[in-house]
Amino acid sequence: MSDVGREVPPAVATKGLGWSGRETPVEPPPAGPGMREDVSRRFGRAEADPRFRDLADPLREIPDDLEVDAGAAVGDPRVEEALEALDRDLVALREVKGRIREIASLLVVDRLRRGLNLEADPPTLHMCFTGNPGTGKTTVARRMGEILYALGYVRKGHLVAVSRDDLVGQYVGHTAPKTREVIRRAMGGVLFIDEAYHIYRVDNERDYGQETVEILLEVMENQRSDLVVIMAGYEEQMDRFFSDVPGLSSRIAHHIDFPDYRLEELMDIARLMVERERYRFSAEAERAFEEYLRERMRQPRFANGRSVRNAIDRARMRQAVRLYDAARRGRRLTKRDLVTIEAEDILASRVFEGGAYHGEGGRGDRAVAARA
Ligand SMILES: Nc1ncnc2c1ncn2[C@@H]1O[C@H](COP(=O)(O)OP(=O)(O)O)[C@@H](O)[C@H]1O
Ligand SMILES: [Mg+2]
Repeated sequence: MSDVGREVPPAVATKGLGWSGRETPVEPPPAGPGMREDVSRRFGRAEADPRFRDLADPLREIPDDLEVDAGAAVGDPRVEEALEALDRDLVALREVKGRIREIASLLVVDRLRRGLNLEADPPTLHMCFTGNPGTGKTTVARRMGEILYALGYVRKGHLVAVSRDDLVGQYVGHTAPKTREVIRRAMGGVLFIDEAYHIYRVDNERDYGQETVEILLEVMENQRSDLVVIMAGYEEQMDRFFSDVPGLSSRIAHHIDFPDYRLEELMDIARLMVERERYRFSAEAERAFEEYLRERMRQPRFANGRSVRNAIDRARMRQAVRLYDAARRGRRLTKRDLVTIEAEDILASRVFEGGAYHGEGGRGDRAVAARA
């Protein structure tokens, strides 16, 4: 995935990543009619209270001890729900979650200030998420969209995830319309650009990616009230991208780093995933899975949460084969059988075979890998 669009001659069709460009609309929060208006009245776009709208200098003209309705802003259930869901559904990531709470605080206070016509530049919300594959960047970006929606900073809160091939064309004249179409789809939500640094290579003058960068810079500046751009990728390459593209870094207010998970954290992720899919590890399976991860972490292309996801998918497959065979031999199956992942479902992995491990998509695992 890291070599998307790299070293491909312009005339050769580069294949987009299977998942890129996928749009994930956020479910509108359950609420009665008129909620949209309600949100926009109270939140981000909220205008100043009519009493203060015409003041030339609200900073001086409004008495300092005027009380504001902080309780309503802080106690807004949708904002708290979105933040709690982030806490609950994602394990670890303490710093990341802290940063997101900070951003939410800033926006709530900004909203209160705007009610008093205390104008300031609207906060810049474009972000940069750095970290290795599978550390939760895409997942958090999606949550960020929901939170910004709950806060009324974007109209829809959906996530449009793209990479270079979705933005940059192959021929003269193709790039600008392609980029603009992606931006149009993302308006009102979050535009998530994976491995953003592949968009533009300084060493290649004929690269159309430069057009994309110019459009993005323009949109990030002028349409930031209704579009949040999140660029994601490896830290070093992202740093280089920022030094290659003047004006980009200054448009991004929040840099959030996603560290690799420790073994215990990966185990927590595994338990969460297993439970969410209504399975259980037997006690032996849990030990086997930990052993599995210990091995897997040392092998090439280990991808944090994604590798956990893949391993669980394959364990489910092996469990199913085991149960199917047992049923064919006439064994009765119970609910316990259906929900339990046993140690053997994990120990059969090639990771335990020793020697070099060649990724997660090999023999027999193709269907699983395609979904990863
Ligand atoms: N902290 C976490 N808690 C639970 N699941 C996680 C966590 N981090 C990553 N995952 C899972 O790992 C997989 C890969 O995460 P993703 O957000 O796609 O990573 P990235 O975008 O950084 O490559 C997803 O299935 C995601 O749900
Ligand atoms: Mg991702």
